[in-house]
Amino acid sequence: MPSPSKQSNNVITCKAAVAWGAGEPLVMEDVEVSAPLPGEIRIKVVCTSLCRSDISAWESQAIFPRIFGHEASGIVESIGEGVDEFKEGDHVLTVFTGECKTCRQCMSGKSNICQVLGLERRGVMHSDQKTRFSIRGKPVYHYCAVSSFSEYTVVHSGCAVKVSSVAPLEKICLLSCGAAAGLGAAWNVADISKGSNVVIFGLGTVGLSVAQGAKLREASKIIGVDINPEKCQKAKAFGITEFINPTDCNEPIQEVIKRITNGGADYSFECIGDTGMVTTALQSCSDGCGMTVTLGVPKVKPEIAAHYGLFLTGKTLKGSLFGGWKPKSDLSSLVDMYMKKEIQIDELITHNMPFEDINKAFNLMQEGKCLRCVIHLPN
Ligand code: APR
Ligand code: ZN
Repeated sequence: MPSPSKQSNNVITCKAAVAWGAGEPLVMEDVEVSAPLPGEIRIKVVCTSLCRSDISAWESQAIFPRIFGHEASGIVESIGEGVDEFKEGDHVLTVFTGECKTCRQCMSGKSNICQVLGLERRGVMHSDQKTRFSIRGKPVYHYCAVSSFSEYTVVHSGCAVKVSSVAPLEKICLLSCGAAAGLGAAWNVADISKGSNVVIFGLGTVGLSVAQGAKLREASKIIGVDINPEKCQKAKAFGITEFINPTDCNEPIQEVIKRITNGGADYSFECIGDTGMVTTALQSCSDGCGMTVTLGVPKVKPEIAAHYGLFLTGKTLKGSLFGGWKPKSDLSSLVDMYMKKEIQIDELITHNMPFEDINKAFNLMQEGKCLRCVIHLPN
Protein backbone atom coordinates (compact mmCIF):
# COMPACT_ATOMS: atom_id res chain seq x y z
CA MET A 1 0.00 0.00 0.00
CA PRO A 2 1.42 3.42 -0.90
CA SER A 3 2.17 5.63 2.06
CA PRO A 4 0.30 7.66 3.16
CA SER A 5 -3.19 6.45 2.23
CA LYS A 6 -6.59 7.30 3.61
CA GLN A 7 -9.26 4.65 4.14
CA SER A 8 -13.04 5.09 4.12
CA ASN A 9 -13.16 5.17 7.94
CA ASN A 10 -10.78 8.14 7.75
CA VAL A 11 -7.85 6.16 9.13
CA ILE A 12 -4.56 7.17 7.51
CA THR A 13 -1.83 4.62 6.93
CA CYS A 14 1.57 6.28 6.79
CA LYS A 15 5.21 5.83 7.72
CA ALA A 16 6.32 6.22 11.32
CA ALA A 17 9.68 5.56 12.99
CA VAL A 18 8.74 3.03 15.66
CA ALA A 19 10.84 2.16 18.71
CA TRP A 20 10.31 -1.51 19.55
CA GLY A 21 12.57 -1.64 22.60
CA ALA A 22 14.83 0.43 24.84
CA GLY A 23 17.85 1.71 22.93
CA GLU A 24 17.00 -0.26 19.77
CA PRO A 25 17.25 1.59 16.43
CA LEU A 26 13.91 2.92 15.22
CA VAL A 27 12.20 0.95 12.44
CA MET A 28 10.16 2.56 9.63
CA GLU A 29 6.73 0.94 9.78
CA ASP A 30 3.36 1.40 8.13
CA VAL A 31 1.24 2.71 10.95
CA GLU A 32 -2.51 3.32 11.10
CA VAL A 33 -3.34 6.76 12.48
CA SER A 34 -6.95 7.08 13.60
CA ALA A 35 -9.19 10.03 12.82
CA PRO A 36 -9.10 12.75 15.48
CA LEU A 37 -11.68 12.22 18.26
CA PRO A 38 -13.71 15.11 19.67
CA GLY A 39 -11.40 17.84 20.90
CA GLU A 40 -8.44 16.53 18.85
CA ILE A 41 -6.72 17.41 15.58
CA ARG A 42 -4.70 15.34 13.16
CA ILE A 43 -1.49 16.97 11.97
CA LYS A 44 0.71 16.33 8.95
CA VAL A 45 4.13 16.64 10.55
CA VAL A 46 6.48 18.83 8.49
CA CYS A 47 9.62 18.91 10.66
CA THR A 48 10.60 17.42 13.98
CA SER A 49 13.83 18.04 15.85
CA LEU A 50 15.40 15.49 18.13
CA CYS A 51 15.56 16.56 21.78
CA ARG A 52 17.65 14.97 24.53
CA SER A 53 14.43 13.98 26.34
CA ASP A 54 13.45 11.70 23.42
CA ILE A 55 16.81 9.93 23.78
CA SER A 56 16.56 9.65 27.58
CA ALA A 57 13.07 8.13 27.40
CA TRP A 58 14.02 5.79 24.53
CA GLU A 59 17.05 4.56 26.50
CA SER A 60 15.40 4.12 29.87
CA GLN A 61 11.66 3.65 29.68
CA ALA A 62 9.58 0.50 29.33
CA ILE A 63 6.58 1.46 27.19
CA PHE A 64 6.95 -0.09 23.71
CA PRO A 65 6.25 -0.14 20.80
CA ARG A 66 6.29 3.60 20.81
CA ILE A 67 6.53 6.63 18.55
CA PHE A 68 8.82 9.25 20.09
CA GLY A 69 9.24 12.89 19.03
CA HIS A 70 7.75 15.93 20.70
CA GLU A 71 9.54 18.98 19.22
CA ALA A 72 7.67 19.54 15.97
CA SER A 73 5.89 21.72 13.45
CA GLY A 74 3.15 20.74 11.05
CA ILE A 75 -0.06 21.50 9.19
CA VAL A 76 -3.54 20.64 10.43
CA GLU A 77 -4.93 17.86 8.22
CA SER A 78 -8.30 17.24 9.90
CA ILE A 79 -10.28 18.34 12.90
CA GLY A 80 -12.28 16.45 15.51
CA GLU A 81 -15.76 17.41 16.66
CA GLY A 82 -16.03 20.53 18.77
CA VAL A 83 -12.68 22.03 17.76
CA ASP A 84 -13.25 25.56 16.54
CA GLU A 85 -9.85 27.20 17.05
CA PHE A 86 -8.17 25.37 14.14
CA LYS A 87 -9.01 24.80 10.52
CA GLU A 88 -7.45 22.50 7.95
CA GLY A 89 -4.23 24.00 6.62
CA ASP A 90 -3.33 25.94 9.76
CA HIS A 91 0.36 25.90 10.64
CA VAL A 92 1.02 24.63 14.16
CA LEU A 93 3.66 23.77 16.72
CA THR A 94 3.01 20.79 18.95
CA VAL A 95 3.48 21.12 22.70
CA PHE A 96 4.33 18.35 25.15
CA THR A 97 2.57 20.13 27.99
CA GLY A 98 -0.78 21.52 26.93
CA GLU A 99 -3.06 24.28 28.07
CA CYS A 100 -6.78 23.64 28.58
CA LYS A 101 -7.38 27.24 29.65
CA THR A 102 -10.04 26.20 32.16
CA CYS A 103 -8.36 24.27 35.02
CA ARG A 104 -7.15 25.90 38.23
CA GLN A 105 -3.54 26.03 37.03
CA CYS A 106 -4.40 27.41 33.58
CA MET A 107 -6.60 30.08 35.19
CA SER A 108 -3.78 31.01 37.58
CA GLY A 109 -1.32 33.62 36.50
CA LYS A 110 1.39 31.75 38.37
CA SER A 111 1.66 28.36 36.67
CA ASN A 112 1.94 26.72 33.26
CA ILE A 113 1.32 23.18 34.49
CA CYS A 114 -2.13 22.32 33.15
CA GLN A 115 -4.02 19.84 35.33
CA VAL A 116 -5.79 18.30 32.32
CA LEU A 117 -3.17 18.30 29.54
CA GLY A 118 0.07 18.28 31.54
CA LEU A 119 3.00 15.98 30.81
CA GLU A 120 1.61 12.57 29.77
CA ARG A 121 3.89 9.74 30.88
CA ARG A 122 1.92 6.57 30.10
CA GLY A 123 2.10 6.67 26.31
CA VAL A 124 -1.61 7.29 25.76
CA MET A 125 -3.91 10.22 25.05
CA HIS A 126 -5.07 12.32 27.99
CA SER A 127 -8.79 11.98 27.26
CA ASP A 128 -9.39 8.20 27.13
CA GLN A 129 -6.03 6.59 28.05
CA LYS A 130 -5.93 4.97 24.60
CA THR A 131 -3.63 5.31 21.61
CA ARG A 132 -4.40 6.71 18.16
CA PHE A 133 -1.69 4.60 16.47
CA SER A 134 -1.72 0.93 15.61
CA ILE A 135 0.15 -1.61 13.51
CA ARG A 136 -2.16 -4.29 12.12
CA GLY A 137 -4.65 -3.46 14.87
CA LYS A 138 -2.13 -3.65 17.78
CA PRO A 139 -1.62 -0.41 19.74
CA VAL A 140 1.52 1.66 19.34
CA TYR A 141 2.11 4.07 22.22
CA HIS A 142 2.56 7.82 22.16
CA TYR A 143 5.28 9.96 23.72
CA CYS A 144 4.24 13.07 25.65
CA ALA A 145 0.92 12.92 23.73
CA VAL A 146 2.74 14.29 20.66
CA SER A 147 4.63 11.50 18.79
CA SER A 148 6.03 13.49 15.91
CA PHE A 149 8.27 10.76 14.44
CA SER A 150 5.35 9.94 12.16
CA GLU A 151 4.08 11.46 8.92
CA TYR A 152 0.74 12.07 10.67
CA THR A 153 -0.11 12.32 14.34
CA VAL A 154 -3.17 13.04 16.46
CA VAL A 155 -2.94 15.49 19.36
CA HIS A 156 -5.39 17.14 21.70
CA SER A 157 -6.25 20.59 20.37
CA GLY A 158 -4.84 21.98 23.64
CA CYS A 159 -1.45 20.48 22.75
CA ALA A 160 -0.98 22.45 19.53
CA VAL A 161 -0.48 26.14 18.93
CA LYS A 162 -1.42 28.00 15.76
CA VAL A 163 1.48 30.04 14.37
CA SER A 164 2.02 32.50 11.53
CA SER A 165 1.81 30.79 8.14
CA VAL A 166 4.91 32.65 6.94
CA ALA A 167 7.18 31.39 9.74
CA PRO A 168 9.59 28.67 8.47
CA LEU A 169 8.39 25.38 9.92
CA GLU A 170 11.85 23.85 9.48
CA LYS A 171 13.27 26.34 11.98
CA ILE A 172 10.51 27.16 14.44
CA CYS A 173 10.05 23.51 15.42
CA LEU A 174 12.84 24.23 17.95
CA LEU A 175 10.47 26.58 19.77
CA SER A 176 8.16 23.65 20.44
CA CYS A 177 10.49 22.56 23.26
CA GLY A 178 14.23 23.16 23.77
CA ALA A 179 14.80 26.75 22.64
CA ALA A 180 11.60 28.02 24.27
CA ALA A 181 12.35 26.11 27.49
CA GLY A 182 15.74 27.80 27.83
CA LEU A 183 14.55 31.32 27.03
CA GLY A 184 11.60 30.95 29.39
CA ALA A 185 13.76 29.66 32.24
CA ALA A 186 15.89 32.82 31.96
CA TRP A 187 12.98 35.24 31.58
CA ASN A 188 9.95 33.75 33.34
CA VAL A 189 11.38 31.42 35.95
CA ALA A 190 14.63 33.11 37.06
CA ASP A 191 13.65 36.57 35.79
CA ILE A 192 17.34 37.45 35.34
CA SER A 193 18.16 41.04 36.15
CA LYS A 194 20.57 43.36 34.33
CA GLY A 195 24.19 43.17 35.49
CA SER A 196 23.83 39.80 37.26
CA ASN A 197 26.17 36.80 37.11
CA VAL A 198 24.83 33.62 35.55
CA VAL A 199 26.26 30.10 35.34
CA ILE A 200 24.87 27.47 33.01
CA PHE A 201 25.69 23.76 33.38
CA GLY A 202 25.36 22.01 30.00
CA LEU A 203 25.62 23.88 26.69
CA GLY A 204 23.23 21.95 24.46
CA THR A 205 20.26 23.66 22.85
CA VAL A 206 18.62 24.16 26.24
CA GLY A 207 21.68 25.68 27.94
CA LEU A 208 22.54 27.91 24.96
CA SER A 209 18.97 29.19 24.93
CA VAL A 210 19.28 30.09 28.62
CA ALA A 211 22.48 31.93 27.66
CA GLN A 212 20.67 33.83 24.93
CA GLY A 213 17.94 34.77 27.42
CA ALA A 214 20.59 35.99 29.90
CA LYS A 215 22.37 37.99 27.20
CA LEU A 216 19.12 39.71 26.18
CA ARG A 217 18.55 40.59 29.86
CA GLU A 218 22.05 42.14 29.87
CA ALA A 219 23.59 39.85 32.46
CA SER A 220 27.23 40.80 33.00
CA LYS A 221 28.96 37.40 33.37
CA ILE A 222 27.44 34.37 31.63
CA ILE A 223 29.59 31.37 32.49
CA GLY A 224 29.07 28.18 30.50
CA VAL A 225 30.17 24.81 31.92
CA ASP A 226 30.46 21.73 29.70
CA ILE A 227 32.69 18.65 29.61
CA ASN A 228 32.63 18.62 25.81
CA PRO A 229 35.26 21.12 24.56
CA GLU A 230 33.48 21.37 21.18
CA LYS A 231 30.56 23.10 22.90
CA CYS A 232 32.76 26.16 23.38
CA GLN A 233 32.60 27.07 19.66
CA LYS A 234 28.99 28.23 19.50
CA ALA A 235 28.82 29.39 23.09
CA LYS A 236 30.11 32.93 22.46
CA ALA A 237 27.49 33.59 19.77
CA PHE A 238 24.81 32.80 22.34
CA GLY A 239 26.24 35.15 24.97
CA ILE A 240 28.59 32.93 26.99
CA THR A 241 31.34 35.21 28.29
CA GLU A 242 33.47 32.45 29.87
CA PHE A 243 33.64 28.74 29.05
CA ILE A 244 34.82 26.28 31.68
CA ASN A 245 35.48 22.60 31.15
CA PRO A 246 35.38 20.99 34.63
CA THR A 247 37.81 18.30 33.51
CA ASP A 248 40.47 21.02 33.03
CA CYS A 249 40.05 22.34 36.60
CA ASN A 250 42.18 21.35 39.60
CA GLU A 251 39.47 22.23 42.10
CA PRO A 252 35.74 21.52 42.29
CA ILE A 253 33.83 23.54 39.70
CA GLN A 254 31.68 25.24 42.35
CA GLU A 255 34.86 26.67 43.92
CA VAL A 256 36.02 28.00 40.54
CA ILE A 257 32.66 29.67 40.00
CA LYS A 258 32.53 31.16 43.49
CA ARG A 259 35.96 32.65 42.90
CA ILE A 260 35.22 34.27 39.56
CA THR A 261 31.83 35.57 40.68
CA ASN A 262 33.07 36.98 43.98
CA GLY A 263 31.12 34.55 46.19
CA GLY A 264 28.72 32.77 43.87
CA ALA A 265 26.49 33.37 40.86
CA ASP A 266 23.15 35.14 41.13
CA TYR A 267 21.56 32.42 39.02
CA SER A 268 22.65 28.90 38.12
CA PHE A 269 20.90 26.63 35.63
CA GLU A 270 21.08 22.84 35.39
CA CYS A 271 20.68 21.98 31.68
CA ILE A 272 22.23 18.49 31.65
CA GLY A 273 19.74 16.13 33.25
CA ASP A 274 22.04 15.03 36.08
CA THR A 275 20.75 15.43 39.62
CA GLY A 276 24.32 15.49 40.98
CA MET A 277 24.74 18.69 38.99
CA VAL A 278 21.72 20.21 40.72
CA THR A 279 23.70 20.05 43.96
CA THR A 280 26.76 21.54 42.24
CA ALA A 281 24.59 24.28 40.75
CA LEU A 282 23.21 25.11 44.21
CA GLN A 283 26.72 25.20 45.63
CA SER A 284 27.77 27.55 42.82
CA CYS A 285 25.21 30.23 43.53
CA SER A 286 25.44 32.99 46.04
CA ASP A 287 24.32 32.88 49.68
CA GLY A 288 21.42 35.13 50.47
CA CYS A 289 19.73 35.43 47.11
CA GLY A 290 21.25 32.88 44.71
CA MET A 291 18.79 30.87 42.67
CA THR A 292 19.21 27.52 40.95
CA VAL A 293 16.79 26.63 38.16
CA THR A 294 16.50 23.02 36.94
CA LEU A 295 15.69 22.30 33.31
CA GLY A 296 17.33 18.91 32.84
CA VAL A 297 15.32 15.70 32.91
CA PRO A 298 17.34 12.97 34.67
CA LYS A 299 17.06 9.46 33.30
CA VAL A 300 18.73 7.83 36.31
CA LYS A 301 18.81 8.61 40.03
CA PRO A 302 16.01 11.15 40.28
CA GLU A 303 16.72 12.05 43.92
CA ILE A 304 18.62 15.23 44.76
CA ALA A 305 21.16 15.37 47.60
CA ALA A 306 21.67 18.77 49.17
CA HIS A 307 22.69 19.85 52.67
CA TYR A 308 19.92 21.91 54.29
CA GLY A 309 22.56 24.53 55.07
CA LEU A 310 22.43 25.54 51.40
CA PHE A 311 18.84 26.67 51.90
CA LEU A 312 19.38 28.03 55.42
CA THR A 313 21.47 30.74 53.83
CA GLY A 314 18.58 31.80 51.61
CA LYS A 315 19.24 30.04 48.31
CA THR A 316 16.29 29.03 46.16
CA LEU A 317 15.88 25.88 44.07
CA LYS A 318 13.26 26.31 41.38
CA GLY A 319 11.87 23.75 38.95
CA SER A 320 10.99 24.69 35.41
CA LEU A 321 8.92 22.93 32.78
CA PHE A 322 8.76 24.48 29.32
CA GLY A 323 10.34 27.62 30.74
CA GLY A 324 7.18 28.61 32.54
CA TRP A 325 5.46 29.45 29.22
CA LYS A 326 1.73 28.89 28.94
CA PRO A 327 1.95 27.38 25.46
CA LYS A 328 -1.36 28.52 23.96
CA SER A 329 -1.05 31.99 25.39
CA ASP A 330 2.65 32.64 24.85
CA LEU A 331 4.23 30.50 22.14
CA SER A 332 3.04 32.32 19.02
CA SER A 333 4.60 35.54 20.35
CA LEU A 334 7.97 33.76 20.60
CA VAL A 335 7.56 32.80 16.93
CA ASP A 336 6.84 36.45 16.14
CA MET A 337 10.02 37.46 18.04
CA TYR A 338 11.98 35.03 15.87
CA MET A 339 10.45 36.51 12.72
CA LYS A 340 11.50 39.98 13.87
CA LYS A 341 15.03 38.61 14.49
CA GLU A 342 14.78 39.41 18.20
CA ILE A 343 15.80 35.85 19.08
CA GLN A 344 18.10 33.46 17.21
CA ILE A 345 17.40 29.78 16.67
CA ASP A 346 18.92 28.99 13.26
CA GLU A 347 22.40 28.62 14.79
CA LEU A 348 21.13 25.83 17.05
CA ILE A 349 20.41 23.67 14.00
CA THR A 350 23.59 21.76 13.22
CA HIS A 351 22.07 19.08 10.95
CA ASN A 352 19.13 18.62 8.59
CA MET A 353 18.15 15.17 7.39
CA PRO A 354 15.35 13.27 5.68
CA PHE A 355 12.97 11.16 7.77
CA GLU A 356 14.55 7.85 6.69
CA ASP A 357 17.84 8.95 8.31
CA ILE A 358 16.33 9.50 11.75
CA ASN A 359 18.62 6.94 13.42
CA LYS A 360 21.60 9.07 12.35
CA ALA A 361 20.19 11.90 14.46
CA PHE A 362 19.99 9.55 17.46
CA ASN A 363 23.64 8.55 16.91
CA LEU A 364 24.82 12.16 16.58
CA MET A 365 23.12 13.21 19.80
CA GLN A 366 24.36 10.19 21.73
CA GLU A 367 27.90 11.00 20.57
CA GLY A 368 27.54 14.69 21.55
CA LYS A 369 28.15 15.76 17.93
CA CYS A 370 25.09 17.94 17.36
CA LEU A 371 22.89 20.59 18.87
CA ARG A 372 19.62 20.10 17.05
CA CYS A 373 19.07 17.74 14.11
CA VAL A 374 15.99 18.79 12.19
CA ILE A 375 14.27 15.82 10.56
CA HIS A 376 12.23 16.65 7.46
CA LEU A 377 9.17 14.50 6.85
CA PRO A 378 8.22 13.80 3.19
CA ASN A 379 5.99 16.43 1.51
N1 APR B 1 29.21 18.44 33.21
C1 APR B 1 29.05 19.43 32.30
N2 APR B 1 28.39 19.26 31.11
C2 APR B 1 27.88 18.06 30.87
C3 APR B 1 28.00 16.96 31.77
C4 APR B 1 28.72 17.19 32.98
N3 APR B 1 28.87 16.24 33.89
N4 APR B 1 27.37 15.89 31.23
C5 APR B 1 26.87 16.29 30.05
N5 APR B 1 27.17 17.59 29.81
C6 APR B 1 26.82 18.42 28.66
C7 APR B 1 26.90 17.71 27.31
O1 APR B 1 28.24 17.71 26.83
C8 APR B 1 25.96 18.55 26.44
O2 APR B 1 26.64 19.60 25.78
O3 APR B 1 25.43 18.79 28.75
C9 APR B 1 24.96 19.15 27.45
C10 APR B 1 23.54 18.64 27.27
O4 APR B 1 23.09 19.03 26.03
P1 APR B 1 22.20 18.10 25.08
O5 APR B 1 22.55 16.69 25.27
O6 APR B 1 22.27 18.68 23.71
O7 APR B 1 20.73 18.27 25.71
P2 APR B 1 19.61 19.43 25.56
O8 APR B 1 18.68 19.06 24.47
O9 APR B 1 20.23 20.77 25.59
O10 APR B 1 18.80 19.15 26.92
C11 APR B 1 19.39 19.36 28.19
O11 APR B 1 17.25 19.46 29.26
O12 APR B 1 15.20 19.06 28.26
C12 APR B 1 16.20 18.53 29.08
O13 APR B 1 16.12 16.14 28.70
C13 APR B 1 16.84 17.31 28.44
O14 APR B 1 18.07 16.72 30.38
C14 APR B 1 18.19 17.30 29.12
C15 APR B 1 18.50 18.79 29.26
ZN1 ZN C 1 -5.42 23.43 32.22
